Amino acid sequence: MEVKVEHGAIQSSSADTLIVNLFEGVEIPGGATGAVDQAVGGAIRDLIAGGDFTGKAGEVAVLYPRGAIPARRVLVVGLGQAQKFDLEGVRRIAAAAIRRAAELNAKNVATIVHGAGIGGIPLADATQATVEGSLLAAYRFEAQKKQESENRIETLTIVEYDSDRLATIRQAASTAFGIAAGVFLARDLVNMPPNIATPTRLAEAARKIADTYGMAITIGDREWAAERRMGAYLAVAKGAGESPKFIVLEHHADRVDLPTVVLVGKGITFDTGGISIKPSERMGEMKSDMGGAAAVLGAMEAIGHLDLPLHVIGITPCTENMPDALAYRPADVITASNGKTIEIISTDAEGRMVLADALVYATQYKPVAVIDLATLTGACVIALGSGVAAGIFCNDDTLRDRLLSAADITNERLWPLPLYEDYRRTIQSDVADMKNSGGRFGGVGTSAVFLQEFTDYPWAHLDIAGMALSEKAKEYVPAGGTGFGVRLLVAYLQGMLGS
Ligand code: BES
Ligand code: MN
Ligand code: ZN
Repeated sequence: MEVKVEHGAIQSSSADTLIVNLFEGVEIPGGATGAVDQAVGGAIRDLIAGGDFTGKAGEVAVLYPRGAIPARRVLVVGLGQAQKFDLEGVRRIAAAAIRRAAELNAKNVATIVHGAGIGGIPLADATQATVEGSLLAAYRFEAQKKQESENRIETLTIVEYDSDRLATIRQAASTAFGIAAGVFLARDLVNMPPNIATPTRLAEAARKIADTYGMAITIGDREWAAERRMGAYLAVAKGAGESPKFIVLEHHADRVDLPTVVLVGKGITFDTGGISIKPSERMGEMKSDMGGAAAVLGAMEAIGHLDLPLHVIGITPCTENMPDALAYRPADVITASNGKTIEIISTDAEGRMVLADALVYATQYKPVAVIDLATLTGACVIALGSGVAAGIFCNDDTLRDRLLSAADITNERLWPLPLYEDYRRTIQSDVADMKNSGGRFGGVGTSAVFLQEFTDYPWAHLDIAGMALSEKAKEYVPAGGTGFGVRLLVAYLQGMLGS
């Protein structure tokens, strides 16, 4: 879907479908909605007066102006109660309206910015949320598009009457477009079958980002990783038929003056569990075990589009985790790139292995912050639920606060969990510096303190196990890959810039 911004009165728009809005309890619409109402002879007022439309959040009424204005149909979307309205509300109602427009086979949709008037939301934020909600809700994965008929909206035009507001709207719409492109990439990569979304395919996606935005890129293969003594990463890759790829994308590589942030994403393109094999039932869901890598690549796409003035490095250690004659085994002792040794208890605790070497690799950049995202533990899903919140572990209060603020803005929930010393005891080993699993109890905390052994900078670990893949569609997140983390990372980085 293309996004445009136009100056003018929305009732004069040449789009086939107009989207205007109404707060609950309003009887005589004002602003753009009022102008459309007048142009169609008071039809919106009639709807309200007749009780056919109350303005409840997400309620959508469809009107047919029959030649009174150029548009074929007008969608009035309810904003709910004005005092309860917020950014998430904007995204949700924009999504509700666009989904109805798509159902009606709209091709060219014109909308006003939701929430910037009586809603009281700053114009840039309201615009970004309007466009994000619309684009994110209209997302379809390519393979699904084939089966669906023609329901694809071609253009979304933001129409604004006040010319003083156009520059802000243009800027915010472009930001939203870039962020949505990042979310789409992350969703696509998770939705792709695991025989397609291989480490090689992820490397191609990264290469494309590098080429588009002029980022530096390194794609490390087995030999490259061996030269760097990445024993933990290579242990997981040993059983893989697909070539492992250790991907490093660097935005503003030459700008040493800018603050450096490293993003790390777990890139297990399929997690069978390895020799500690998983039950076959629902194993297919483990195609989403590269959800962290997808979020990091998606964020890098958005960062490139927005050209954020920060030095950002995206690291995604990618490999399958397969049972194989060459696969690593329980009882193996592995040496990571920082020299620490790991006793393998379960080959299914592979995420922390690949992350260990990636976190060590991050040290060289002397980062002000490192954030890793990983579909790391079933225990996190048991603790917080599926599709409810990601767990956040953090060794730095400022970093945690900034991430929590970003999560508040984007409504990608993070729930703080503790890095207790006690967890460390559960991974004490008699034959190595640590075990890679501490057993069932507190499994999410154990995995986090394991990772902490490989960090020496302000660091946050986001366990997104319950968040990368969704069985059910939500307001602006269709079922399948969610793209969780992309908007969050961008909002965090924008927060660092004080914007
Ligand atoms: N990829 C899984 C975690 C996971 C579970 C992600 C459910 C998404 C949904 C991870 O590699 C794993 O297998 N973790 C084990 C760790 C255990 C062996 C210490 C787990 O959670 O059971
Ligand atoms: Mn596993
Ligand atoms: Zn895994």
